[in-house]
Amino acid sequence: MSDPQIPRHVAVVMDGNGRWAKARLLPRFMGHKQGMDTLVAAIGEFARRGVEYLTVFAFSSENWKRPSDEVSGLMSLVLIGVQKYLEKLHRDGVRVRVVGDRAAISQHLRDAWDHAEQLTAGNRRINLSVAFNYGGRWDMLQACRKALAEGIPPEALDEDTLSRRLSLSYAPDPDLIIRTGGEMRLSNFLLWQAAYAELYFTDSLWPDFDGAQIDKALAAYANRDRRYGGVIEDLAQTG
Ligand code: IPE
Ligand code: IPE
Ligand code: MG
Repeated sequence: MSDPQIPRHVAVVMDGNGRWAKARLLPRFMGHKQGMDTLVAAIGEFARRGVEYLTVFAFSSENWKRPSDEVSGLMSLVLIGVQKYLEKLHRDGVRVRVVGDRAAISQHLRDAWDHAEQLTAGNRRINLSVAFNYGGRWDMLQACRKALAEGIPPEALDEDTLSRRLSLSYAPDPDLIIRTGGEMRLSNFLLWQAAYAELYFTDSLWPDFDGAQIDKALAAYANRDRRYGGVIEDLAQTG
């Protein structure tokens, strides 16, 4: 049995790269570059602590609103990142999946992801899901569309039917959602799956999010009472 104090599935909104760079008088791109190294280190740190699923928000369906040079910079950074880190992740037993709408993504990048997913498909140490061109509303919509296309009648559509068609259908719902960078919102991340996730917000900017910060987040999680709308048993007994 896994330790209930450790979340099985952690999801992270990796925010604050731009501000990290700005504070150093660097272009925003340098913040994203540093953020990529932080992510690779964080995968190992979460795996070492027993987290089975790690889902990270890397590019939202709304991030296209950014200046085109930032968007193209992010796209090339991801491509370079796959080339630079895939072997290491594979050696470390990381299973990689990319979730999100791939329609608008270049063939180059899609090929790199397909390769990463195939290469690491047998790995079991930790399941990394990279949410890229992902939006929670998109995810629910595409799940509904799948169900409709399969001819599922309205009365047969239940939560399970929909869950099985969401892009993270292979993972349990996240137990803990961490957002760095100080903003307290989900920004269209895992809307359906977040129903009973514990939320943890920190002012720490993503490039600064190290092992000590992970320990703080996991300690906060271990102190939460998860009631899922029910009552804690000993409270229920006494009154
Ligand atoms: C998060 O950092 C990374 C992406 C959205 C790709 P930001 O780029 O949003 O950094 P801030 O919020 O401007 O500091
Ligand atoms: C959320 O960060 C998306 C990612 C971290 C990929 P944003 O910086 O895009 O979110 P907002 O705009 O502050 O809500
Ligand atoms: Mg931001």
